[in-house]
Amino acid sequence: MTEPDPQSPSSTHDNIPAPAGRGVSRRRFFQGAAGGVAVGALGAGGAWAASTTSASPPAAADPDVVDLTRQVAFYDATHQAGIQTRPQRYAVFMTFDMATGTTATDLQTLLARWSAACARLMSGQAIGTVEPSRVDAVAQDSGEASGLEPASLTVTVGLGPGLFDERFGLKSKRPQLLSALPALPSDRLQPELTGGDLSLQACADDPQVAYHAVRNLARMVRGTAQIRWTVLGFGRASAGRGQQTPRNLMGFKDGTRNVSVGGVGDDDEHVWVTDDDWMTGGTYQVARKISMNLEIWDADPVSDQQEIFGRSKLEGAPLSGKDEHDVPDFSAKTASGKLAIGPTSHIALAAHENNNGTKILRRGYNYTDGLNSVGQLDAGLLFLAYMKDPAQFVTLQRKLGRADRLNEYIAHIGSAVFAVPPSPRTGHYLAEGLFT
Ligand code: HEM
Repeated sequence: MTEPDPQSPSSTHDNIPAPAGRGVSRRRFFQGAAGGVAVGALGAGGAWAASTTSASPPAAADPDVVDLTRQVAFYDATHQAGIQTRPQRYAVFMTFDMATGTTATDLQTLLARWSAACARLMSGQAIGTVEPSRVDAVAQDSGEASGLEPASLTVTVGLGPGLFDERFGLKSKRPQLLSALPALPSDRLQPELTGGDLSLQACADDPQVAYHAVRNLARMVRGTAQIRWTVLGFGRASAGRGQQTPRNLMGFKDGTRNVSVGGVGDDDEHVWVTDDDWMTGGTYQVARKISMNLEIWDADPVSDQQEIFGRSKLEGAPLSGKDEHDVPDFSAKTASGKLAIGPTSHIALAAHENNNGTKILRRGYNYTDGLNSVGQLDAGLLFLAYMKDPAQFVTLQRKLGRADRLNEYIAHIGSAVFAVPPSPRTGHYLAEGLFT
């Protein structure tokens, strides 16, 4: 696939001063003999969009190898990056509130500046000076990504329902299907882990590159928007049809039956908004921080764990079949006449066959926050999902929250929903249609 050159002049709204050598990778002094470093294993690129460009030829043509020099285009991509993009290994998710007293113009400026900065970060550039010519001046970029490759960084920006309340006079521009999620069964939400006027999802194959992006985007809007909550995710090596599926912290393959994207699947039907003014080509993002009680899970026999998910642990096959990608048969019976996939197993409750065809694009990451207040592992799933209508998530979670056998081991502690505008064209910025 031919992609626009992410190194091309970015935005007319780019009010971030260009550092010397704009358009040149952070790696320019470091490439030398080591250029095109490739590390680790990654599943074959099959179902995910190959919306990447490479600053230098990949070290190996093997699609199972992570190429840290890969870049993903920010502009002119129809949909924002980080949704169809092959899942990178790490993620940083952060939400923000607009500061008290800010105006629609402040929001517009923020979105224009973030757009220009995202384009620079995704092409491997600093957002401004790292080492100003006057040593007593403050650096624009914090510098921890200096010398690092773009690492397929994507930054995906979302707009929360709160932006369309009285504060900014944008009520008439509210995306048709955007409103706060309703209370859902089994919710154990902590207020400090919910909501937000804006979201940033940065994914990259290098955790430092992802963190640097979010940290610097937060820093450049300090005073206009303040951080609300954040989660650091890892362990998403790959997912999708034809790819090796990553595992969640419960040890199960997670992502086997997902919406396929990248022009080879059913994303058009389930993920993208097709007819809503400036939101056309956008989508909705649901974020949930789901903690896992891993000590208790680890004490559960594997046979029970398998019944809880409705899949085998190592292969990931549905309990009605043999191979991971066998289609589950929800009416198949065991020799003793029981349903092979129990009706309150996770997949029986979540499968589209049992939900009038409802599907969502899941893009989850594992997280750990160290230990909790009673000295147990504090870890779980940063559940990120994309869909053309948040009601798709609500339908599934109403069922799961009521009956899922998994509920004994998990708790939904964080939650938010965002409208994700389409990718801007070169010379424009995210959600520009809000202000025209
Ligand atoms: C900690 C929480 C969760 C864990 C550990 C988890 C894990 C899994 C696993 C292991 C599978 C089977 C493999 C696969 O097809 O991906 C699966 C499937 C699925 N999950 Fe979850 N999940 C969690 C939460 C959720 C939530 C909150 C939703 C949506 C509300 C959801 C929706 C789905 C769907 C739609 C499928 C595919 C079912 C099918 O078509 O077979 N999951 N999940």
